[in-house]
Amino acid sequence: MTSQSRPREKPAIRIVEVGPRDGLQNEKTPIPTVEKIALITALADCGLQAIEATAFVSPRWVPQMADHDTVMRDAPRRSGLILSALVPNEAGAKAALAAGAQELAVFASASESFAQKNTNCSIAESLARFEPVMALARAHAIPVRGYISCSVHCPYEGAIHPDAVARVAVALQALGCREMAISDTIGTAHPEEILRVLQTVLRDLEPSQLAGHYHDTHGRALANVKASIDMGLRVFDAAAGGLGGCPYAPGAAGNLRTGHLVSFLVEQGYETPIDSQRLADVERHILEWKSGHSAQLIA
Ligand code: HMG
Ligand code: MG
Repeated sequence: MTSQSRPREKPAIRIVEVGPRDGLQNEKTPIPTVEKIALITALADCGLQAIEATAFVSPRWVPQMADHDTVMRDAPRRSGLILSALVPNEAGAKAALAAGAQELAVFASASESFAQKNTNCSIAESLARFEPVMALARAHAIPVRGYISCSVHCPYEGAIHPDAVARVAVALQALGCREMAISDTIGTAHPEEILRVLQTVLRDLEPSQLAGHYHDTHGRALANVKASIDMGLRVFDAAAGGLGGCPYAPGAAGNLRTGHLVSFLVEQGYETPIDSQRLADVERHILEWKSGHSAQLIA
């Protein structure tokens, strides 16, 4: 094959699997810890290389994540697999690092109302809480991602101005976050709105510093991924079986389903290390569990 006829290689897309954290945090019935670990293991077996395993948040605020310590300690460690933990503050970061988290994720909001509802503080206070988290991460040479919730709409305030998202993105980057996740928390964004936000944020940051975290409440998450790829983003979040929701975001439904993202990427000609057949089996089991046809989250 000549270099002219050879298809142009597409840059790799990185998938961050958030099912074990975002996917499960809103489930009302306690899920046995062993099942959460089995889910993480099954997802790693599918070839997922970045898995947000749990959240070191207050168990009073999110009871489903109360077993974060055991989940993080007992989840499988493999070469090429990064297990990350969501943390709101220094206490969470210390506990996550002690349990072996390989990456941390802090979460801020572009909406003041959502910051209050989700973390009981203002946006500025949440950013201040991240300073000791960043210091700990630096000391452990661990990367930190920063989520920006309500990057398009807020369940309490409605439309959010893209400038507010850009301000938080720049602040997170200045704190030392490697990657900022533009988050459509309630899954209401249209691709044109995502484009507007990205155009604004990209005045200050590079596409390589951004990720897309799109809930799929209205079935537009894939369209939002496509719009984001066109803007140069190469990292997207997804949850196996489309699990997900945030206890403090009424109306937030599941994340983009991992299998749908993988199929889309394959159709678009991207290379992926993920075993689609195996992932389909895992997702089938999750959906059986969700619909009450199976007692266990995973076989
Ligand atoms: P607070 O009540 O203001 O804080 O909560 P506090 O410092 O007064 O602490 C209250 C209690 O929590 C104390 O315990 C602390 O020790 C404990 P008590 O004395 O009452 O027994 N505590 C902790 N325990 C474990 N781990 C910790 C921790 N910190 C304090 N790290 C706080 C403030 C931030 C802690 C609380 O609001 C909280 O945990 N919020 C988390 C809410 C949450 O997890 N939401 C869902 C995740 S975010 C999300 O889903 C959005 C995302 O997916 C992106 C998107 O879609 O938009 C990321
Ligand atoms: Mg989310």
